[in-house]
Formats: sequence, structure tokens, C-alpha cells
Amino acid sequence: MDRIRIRGGNRLNGEIHISGAKNAALPLMIASLLTDDTLTLRNVPRLADVTLLMRILGNHGVDISVDGKRAGTNGIQGDTMHLTARTIVDTTAPYEMVSRMRASFWVLGPLLARCGEARVSLPGGCAIGTRPVDMHIQALQALGAEVEIDKGYIVAKAKKGLKGDRITFEKVSVGATHAALMSAVLAHGETVIENAAREPEIGDVADCLIKMGALIEGLGTSTLRVQGRDRLHGATHEVLPDRIETGTYAMAVAMAGGDVHLLGARADLVGNVINVMEQAGVSMSPTNQGLRVSRNGAGLKPVSVTTEPYPGFPTDLQAQFMALMTRAEGTATITETIFENRFMHVQELARLGADIRLRGDSAEVHGVTRLRGAEVMATDLRASVSLVIAGLVAEGDTMVHRVYHLDRGFERLEKKLGACGAEIERLAS
Ligand code: UD1
Repeated sequence: MDRIRIRGGNRLNGEIHISGAKNAALPLMIASLLTDDTLTLRNVPRLADVTLLMRILGNHGVDISVDGKRAGTNGIQGDTMHLTARTIVDTTAPYEMVSRMRASFWVLGPLLARCGEARVSLPGGCAIGTRPVDMHIQALQALGAEVEIDKGYIVAKAKKGLKGDRITFEKVSVGATHAALMSAVLAHGETVIENAAREPEIGDVADCLIKMGALIEGLGTSTLRVQGRDRLHGATHEVLPDRIETGTYAMAVAMAGGDVHLLGARADLVGNVINVMEQAGVSMSPTNQGLRVSRNGAGLKPVSVTTEPYPGFPTDLQAQFMALMTRAEGTATITETIFENRFMHVQELARLGADIRLRGDSAEVHGVTRLRGAEVMATDLRASVSLVIAGLVAEGDTMVHRVYHLDRGFERLEKKLGACGAEIERLAS
């Protein structure tokens, strides 16, 4: 298994190209199941999760090719993906694939909507909390599907097609909103989705579905109204920039100090993060090409945050922000309200000398003046990058093990940071 070694102490200066958003690219790829025409996606990030989903979709019969030029590289690996689901050859998504990435479970709705049946293994993915799928099932049942669990698989049937209805979610779920939306676009009649997630990636998928012929109103609000269509057609869509990658590199610059231009980043997607970072003493200003982040000289002020559904502070930046606060001049409280058990990075940050005390769903982070490099273990996708951020200022070498978690969600991380002056290298096993 690959490891990443970081020698702390260098400031970051230069440019980083922000990739397309993983959390939009995955459901957009899945949306290709809804039409027998070609869906072309641009700005697709090259990530392990994307490669895995290509294989999963391939199993269902989707023909996929990749070309185009990638921003900030020599263009060897393309960022444009063409997906054609002319014929669905298999409506089963097997355990050995779905257990490796939770989002692949999201094929359930589109397969059911298009083929009238689907058999999808219950998911796995990041080990953060229990992450049930009851709301996904609730959405499909509301649209008339018969759903049962058989030997670890969800088996859903709607032989006469799905029928539009009202779906009211008890709490906000990104995945369940995707499931409801991607099923409703091919259902008969009108579907109203209440308490829908408002994450920008949902809006991006909805935009693409509209280009494919779907009728959706209420974008950006928590009530989505969908008029079902008999069929959708092909389209071309550009994946929006990754706001989590944007926030992550902003926090890396804030930690190491320096001045970095995040090319392609969109300030409107990270408003809450900018607000929090400015309170911490970090400058983040929009430019014509993206966002410029700098921290020169001044120390970091402690800022307490609570994770919330969008537009609140994202849970996917909680670990990175905690790493940053380990060096603040005072105490910050970080409260996690979305996932239970999403504090596995705490004990690893402690190995680097951080002073963090857990109290239920909150972590009290007492800033320390120095961190020291150590061997640490990546436990999930976002936690692993928090260790890299801490490693940027830790004295000596930090060795991050199990970096396959990082590769699931960050494109060429060590190259992007290395180009800005970080001393970071990947050691192949
Ligand atoms: C998505 C994101 C993930 C992000 C999360 C929250 C992708 C590929 N993943 O994950 O990066 O951290 O949103 O912003 O976009 N829940 C239920 N029942 C359900 C579904 C969810 O109780 O049927 C709960 C979850 O356990 C969790 C909360 O709802 O406590 C939110 O989860 P959800 O928004 O569904 O997360 P994902 O879609 O899995």
C-alpha cells in the first residue's frame, strides 16, 4: 500500500487547479443510466472512486470512453467522459463492487426507473457512522416500488413503472435526494420532494438532467418539483468545481502560510467556509480565475464551527478544519451533527502532538505551538487529508499510511501541493 511522506515547514506559494467535484461526477455518471443516448461529461476528476464507478456502470452495460485535455497537466489522461447506456444488460449491482463505494448504491433509483427492476447490494464505503439507506427506500416506495431485502441485497420492482407522488424526507440526505430526483424524472406524473438537500452537487445533477429533457423546478431550494418524462435524451455537461477540494487547499495554505491561487474555484460554493476562514485570520478573495488564499505572518485565531447541511459548514471539511485549529492561538470547539463517529482523525492528530478532547459530538481543540512528525494512519477520505495538512507544519517527517483513502477523493494531491513548495512524496509499496 502506498504511503505519503511530508517534511513540514515549507510555505505554499503558486497555483493549484481545482478539479471537478467528486460528489457531482459520481451521480452525474450514474445519470447516464437514464437514457439510451450518449451523456458527455467534461471536467471529470481522475479518482479511484470514478474508476470504480466506471467498472460498476460497465457491468450494467454502459459503454464508457475518456478523452479531452485536463487542466494543469500535460493532458495524458483526459477529463471528458462519454457514457452510453444503449442497453442495460444487468440490473444487479454486486456486493464486491457496492461495498467498496457507498455512492455506487445510487444506481438503484435510475435502474429501477428505466428497467422496472433492480437488485443492488447494501453499501459500504467510508467507515463513518452507520449510514443507513432507509430514506432511499422510502423515496422509491413513495413512487410505488415494491422493495425487499434479500441476502444483503435491496430488490426493488415497479413492473408498470414508477408513479409520481409526494416524498417528504425527515432529515436532509444528499444521497436520498439524488435517488428521489433520478427516479422521479422517469416516473409517470408529478413528484414533489420536500426537505431535499440543497448541496450544489444536487443542483449540478439537476442542471444536467434538465439538459437531458427532465422537467425540474425549485433548484437551490428544499422543495423540488419534477414532471416525469417517458424518456430522456443525451446531453453534454461540465462538472462543477470541487468545493471540498477548494476548502481543503485553502486550509492547507492557511496552515502552512503563503499565498496560493486556486484556479477554477468558485467563491459562491464556499461562502460559509470563506466566512470561517476570515474569522481565523486567513484572507480568501475571489479573482477572475478563481480564489486567492493567503496567510502571511499573523497567527491563526480559534473559530468554533458546527457541521450542517449546505449552506452550513460541510462535514467533509470538518477533519481538515480541526487540523488547522490544532495550531490556533486558543481553543476552538468543533461539533459534528451529520455523521456519528466522524472523529477518527482525532487520535491520529494526537500522535502529531495535537491537544484535542472529545465530548460526545464535539471536539475541543486546544491550539499548540508545535506539532511533530510521526507515523499516522488514514482512516477515511477526509480524515486522511487532515493528516497531510497537519504534516505541512509538523517538525520533521510525517508518514501517512493507507493513502488509498486519499486517492478516492483527491486528484494528484502530492503533485498539487508539491508544485507550491511542499516537501511531499508518495512512496510506492
Ligand atoms: C454525501 C456525500 C458525502 C457527505 C455527505 C453529507 C457524496 C458521494 N457523498 O454522502 O461526501 O459527507 O453527503 O454532506 O455525495 N441518512 C439516513 N438514512 C438514509 C440516508 C442518510 O439516516 O437513507 C443519514 C446519514 O446516516 C447521515 C445523514 O443522513 O447521518 C446525511 O447523510 P447523506 O447526506 O445521505 O450522506 P451521503 O449521501 O451518503
